Amino acid sequence: MTSHWVRWHQAYDDPASMNSRRLEAVVAMLGQVIAAAPAGPIRVLSLCSGDGRDLAGALSGHLRAADVTGVLVEADPDLAAGAVAKLAAVAPGLAVRCADAGDPASFDHNLPADVLMLCGIFGNVAPADVAATVAAVPALAAPGAGVLWTRHRRQPDITPWIRQRFHDAGCPAEAFVTSGPGGFALGLQRVGPGASAAPLPPRLFTFTTTAGEWGAQPGAGRRPT
Ligand SMILES: C[S@@+](CC[C@H](N)C(=O)[O-])C[C@H]1O[C@@H](n2cnc3c(N)ncnc32)[C@H](O)[C@@H]1O
Repeated sequence: MTSHWVRWHQAYDDPASMNSRRLEAVVAMLGQVIAAAPAGPIRVLSLCSGDGRDLAGALSGHLRAADVTGVLVEADPDLAAGAVAKLAAVAPGLAVRCADAGDPASFDHNLPADVLMLCGIFGNVAPADVAATVAAVPALAAPGAGVLWTRHRRQPDITPWIRQRFHDAGCPAEAFVTSGPGGFALGLQRVGPGASAAPLPPRLFTFTTTAGEWGAQPGAGRRPT
């Protein structure tokens, strides 16, 4: 049976869809972040990576593609296999792990990242999990790392609250791209030199069952899953 998340990816087949417009913005931002990275290896960590088409799009023909190493973590085996197929020739230094990205044990031996991707997570988890994940960023990514995150802006639009969480974690905003109210938002944060890395919690997030339709307010407790 085709999984919910495989069906979700089918929206990418329509170039006019919100998914496709968001992807275009992510690919452009990712390409710039990788181009601006200091010389040497660029360690990427993409959590809930889907089929990796953002990295494949950004790295295809990119001058720094050979410098990119790291891991994509995706729970759905079909999407993980799709990522392997898309990235094998484009960025052979990237590995795809079919695992639970909410569990730091799935990737803690690949830390810290120079580029951290948190795309398609914050619209599908409880506010407490958004806060926990953002607070963990200084432990996930090196000082100076770029952190890309997305969140839809349907009501209640919590993107200002998310940006404040990043600011409080010592990761100020470098860019914020949005298609407007009700659309998508894409943020780029930079891990500041003063960001302090606390020990990682045993769990960062758990997707809710009502994927993409979460309407809880920031400050509400973790939903039962
Ligand atoms: C909204 S999609 C985003 C995919 C991709 N990041 C993108 O922006 O195109 C969410 C993805 O998270 C994956 N996922 C959900 N829970 C997960 C978990 N606990 N660990 C790893 N991946 C998970 C889903 O299978 C799905 O591919």
